[in-house]
Amino acid sequence: MSAFPLAGEARSLLERNWREGDYRGRHYAFGVPSPRSYPWQWYWDSCFHAIVRSRYEPGRARQELMTLLGAMREDGFIGHTVLWGTPLDLGRAVRYNIASRADLMTSTIQPPLIAWAWARALGDPAADPEAAAALDRHHHWLRAHRDLDGDGLLWLLQPDESGMDASPKFDHVWGRRAQGRPLFPALIHANRRLGFDARRVQAAGRPVVCEVLTNVAWSLSEQALGRPSHTPALVDRLWDERAGRFFDDVRGAVSPTPGPRRPVTWDTLAPLALPDLPDAIADRLIEEVLLAPRFAAGVPLPAVALDDPQHSSRETWWGRHRHWRGPSWVNSAWLVSLGLRRRGRDDLADAMAARLTGVVARAGFREYYEARQGYGMGAHDFGWSTLLWELADPRPPAHGR
Ligand code: GLC
Repeated sequence: MSAFPLAGEARSLLERNWREGDYRGRHYAFGVPSPRSYPWQWYWDSCFHAIVRSRYEPGRARQELMTLLGAMREDGFIGHTVLWGTPLDLGRAVRYNIASRADLMTSTIQPPLIAWAWARALGDPAADPEAAAALDRHHHWLRAHRDLDGDGLLWLLQPDESGMDASPKFDHVWGRRAQGRPLFPALIHANRRLGFDARRVQAAGRPVVCEVLTNVAWSLSEQALGRPSHTPALVDRLWDERAGRFFDDVRGAVSPTPGPRRPVTWDTLAPLALPDLPDAIADRLIEEVLLAPRFAAGVPLPAVALDDPQHSSRETWWGRHRHWRGPSWVNSAWLVSLGLRRRGRDDLADAMAARLTGVVARAGFREYYEARQGYGMGAHDFGWSTLLWELADPRPPAHGR
C-alpha cells in the first residue's frame, strides 16, 4: 500500500478549485478543471467533480450540477463550456466554439453525462423535481437536435464534442481541419456559419460522427432517467464483431477509412462502463484489448494504443493541442474500471488503481500522464484526476448504477 494520502489530497484540490459568485443575474458554484488552464465550467468535468465530491459533500456536488443546469437555454441546450465570471479573451475566442463573444456558453456539446452523474452522486433524479424537469428538457434538446437517424444515437459535428479533442481517430474525418491540426479554426468557422446545427452541417455535406464515448454517456444518462437503454442500438451500429472493437459511424469524412484501419484508441473500451453491455462483448474487450500489452503495459489508460503509429506521448512546443493523441487519462481508467468490477475483475481494477496512485503520488493531479513513464503533462491541479479516489476506493452509486 502506498502512503500517499489520496482522499485528503483529492479533497484539498477540489476545495482550491471551487468558485462561487453571481454573474448576469445567476448564481454559480462549481469547480474549475484547473485554475490556470481552464478557469470556467466544463460540462463533463463538472459531472466528474460532482461524483467525487459527493463522497463527502453532497450539497456542493448538487450545487455544481445545478449550476450547469442553471446555464441551460430555454430550449434545453447546455454548451460544453460555460463562461462564468469573465468573458473570453480574443485569443481563445478563435479557438472556442462560441457564436458570439457575448455568449455565456459555447454552442457545442460534450458527452452528456449529467443525468448519470446526478444518479451516481445524489440518487434518483426523479426524487428532485427541479433537477428532474431540467434534465428532461436537456435530454429533449439532445434527442431533437442530435439523433439524426431516429435510432436513439447522437451525432457530433466537431471532435471536441466527444471530450477527446485531438484524438487521432478524427483525423480521417476532418483531415487538416481536425483538432490539433493546422486548419482546426476553419472547422469552427464553418460550423459557426451553419449555426452549430448538426442537421445543417449534415445537409451541407460536411462531416458528422456517431461517436462511441458520446453514446456511452448518453445511454448511461437516459437509463438514469428511467428511459429505455440505447445500448442495443449502440452495439448494433458501432460494434464490429469481426474486429472485436467499437468504431464510430461517420458521414462526409474527408478520407473515409474503414474501422479496423483507424488508430486504436481507448474509447473502444468505453462501453465497459455500460451496466447492460452484453457480457460476451465486455469479456472480449477485456481479454483482447485491455489486457493486450498495447494498453496493459501503459499507465492506465493510454488514449491511444502504445504500439499504434499514431501514438504520440511527447509534448509539442504548443503542448496542449496534443490532447488525447497518446498520454493516459484518469477518467478513462475509471470508466473502464466500472466494467472490470461488474465482470468480477476487481484484481485488474485494483492493479490499475495501484499503478495510478504511484504515478499521482509522484507527479500530482495532472491533466494527463506520459503513457509509459507516467510523468505529469498538461494542466496542473486537474479536477477530474481525483476520480482516482473513486477508482481506488469504489462505493456503490447513490442510485442503482
Ligand atoms: C480539454 C479536454 C476536455 C476537457 C477540457 C477541460 O479540452 O480535452 O475533455 O473537458 O480540457 O478539462
